[in-house]
Amino acid sequence: MKLVCCNFKMNLLKDDIENYIKVIHNYVDKNNLIIFPSIPYINDFKQNGFIVGSQNISFNEFGSITGDTSILQLKEMGITYTIIGHSERRKYFNDDIYIKEKINLALNNNVKVILCIGESIKTNEQETYAILKKEIDDAFLNNTNLIKNDNLIIAYEPIWSIGSGLIPDNTCLTNTINYIKDYVFNTYKVKIKVLYGGSVNISNIDSLQEINEIDGYLIGSFSLKPENILDLSTRIM
Ligand code: PGA
Repeated sequence: MKLVCCNFKMNLLKDDIENYIKVIHNYVDKNNLIIFPSIPYINDFKQNGFIVGSQNISFNEFGSITGDTSILQLKEMGITYTIIGHSERRKYFNDDIYIKEKINLALNNNVKVILCIGESIKTNEQETYAILKKEIDDAFLNNTNLIKNDNLIIAYEPIWSIGSGLIPDNTCLTNTINYIKDYVFNTYKVKIKVLYGGSVNISNIDSLQEINEIDGYLIGSFSLKPENILDLSTRIM
């Protein structure tokens, strides 16, 4: 089964989380479901046997960085994964410049990375590839020793698709995912898994499932309702 990653972003409160866990407890395959709640609720999912991740980590392990959370603190909470470089972090928190430090911190601490990349506006394939290439190089250059054993996954998330209800057509998406896999393999000698993220929901999942190259999904707003994730899980067996 493909990976299903639920990115709650800055949503849901305690009652919602308790209900979510109740509904989703019977999820068919907990091994392929990863929940990225806000930090205060990581523990709730962890204690109930879910694989959990953080939506971000600090670029330092410790220090005078008010409001940030260290990978070491998150690891103590039981995270297995962290998202790095989500477009919202790049936009609001200048994360472009910390990508490499964050990846190194996560991998050195045995936390798996989901690295988000994606073009901001819909453009032609060559322009898109140039943007993706740069984002991959920013993350991978001189980091090759760290990128092995399945510990880094790329999430291809066209920014124009996030929250918009629009997704790339299947041909375009297949080509782009193949481009990412081929580029990483040819340049960095790593076979990498690629998730798709951006407006994934019940109405487009069957069509996305036709693309064998997609190794899983990073799902935002649709994942906020546990019933949606149960529904979706029946379609991606
Ligand atoms: P969306 O968000 O599913 O709401 O488009 C995806 C994401 O930002 O990871």
